[in-house]
Amino acid sequence: MRTHTRHKVPESQTEPQQSIFTAPSMTDPEPLMTTTIRSPLAQKVAGAPKSELHIHIEGSLEPELIFQLAQRNHVQLPYASIDTLRAAYAFTDLQSFLDIYYAGASVLLHEQDFYDMTMAYAERALADNVVHTEIFFDPQTHTERGVPIATAVAGIERALAEAEQRGLSSKLILCFLRHLSEADALATFEAALPLFEQYQHRLIGVGLDSSERGHPPSKFERVFAKARALGLKLVAHAGEEGPPSYIYEALDLLKVDRVDHGVRSIEDPALVARLADTRVALTVCPLSNLKLCVFDDLTKHTLKALLDKGVAVTVNSDDPAYFGGYVNDNYFATLDALQLNDAELYTIIRNGFEASFVTPAERAALIARLDAHWHGKPAH
Ligand code: ADE
Ligand code: ZN
Repeated sequence: MRTHTRHKVPESQTEPQQSIFTAPSMTDPEPLMTTTIRSPLAQKVAGAPKSELHIHIEGSLEPELIFQLAQRNHVQLPYASIDTLRAAYAFTDLQSFLDIYYAGASVLLHEQDFYDMTMAYAERALADNVVHTEIFFDPQTHTERGVPIATAVAGIERALAEAEQRGLSSKLILCFLRHLSEADALATFEAALPLFEQYQHRLIGVGLDSSERGHPPSKFERVFAKARALGLKLVAHAGEEGPPSYIYEALDLLKVDRVDHGVRSIEDPALVARLADTRVALTVCPLSNLKLCVFDDLTKHTLKALLDKGVAVTVNSDDPAYFGGYVNDNYFATLDALQLNDAELYTIIRNGFEASFVTPAERAALIARLDAHWHGKPAH
């Protein structure tokens, strides 16, 4: 299934690596000097404090950073240049994307690499006025190359702690790769147990991602039961490419707190009614769905239909480096295509705070900030 070469951490490379952020390289891209005129509503969305609840940190690796890390770590990529890599971003479905996404992640070997990747994402999120983010990472993508889970989490955590000082609060969610066995997921979970303890302020849940078709949530019932017993939050990708039955399984067997994507729920009216009644949120990623051909046109996206039926939909970027945009770009494209109005956009942004895994007091404070921006009410 995978096409990339595996790279173990070279034993000679145990020295801490210099941060890409303290030493800008000659290969940094020129800033794009484009000016886009946005509607007043788009500007209001851009300036609003927002959450992001569906972002794979490995999917935030921009091609420039992939090549910088490949050079720094002496990793041979199956792409000759940044342009060749970018040219490969013409996806036909989820699997065609995942093959390239795993090749991109193969440059991540050291704690510093995870720090640099996460810091780059945090900068983009802050620029979009994201004030709270809940980040996925895929430990099995790294352990299979000899990179311990602790290395990944330490680098991600160091960047998130710094970003917190700059106004971006965050949580971290460990995702199991569903194309691998449940035994592999269970072993990963056992290996991560000390990290759930050590980073309990940050590492608060588990998720399920990778190739959906043929890998239903039921395959992971036991490992999710173990995570639930520990009091961890639970999410799963379901109904991205997979059928509504996968969403039922995520709800009934895994007992998830949120469903990632879930856009195919629209095919089952009883499921839509249940999602609306229970307010189990969907973390929708419109540009991802477009790029992975879940919808052939954003005007056909089901987000507005679900919103109209009372489902708690949220807007997120999924793998922004691969799908052509971060959170604000997802809002801009969606509000244009679906002609979303002021009240609908407020509801979607607010849903993002309602569905986040923060304390009730933190949630109230986030919503007060949104209200201050949106309705001009004073935040207290
Ligand atoms: N891993 C990264 N992005 C993903 C997506 N959109 N669906 C499933 N697994 C993923
Ligand atoms: Zn995803």
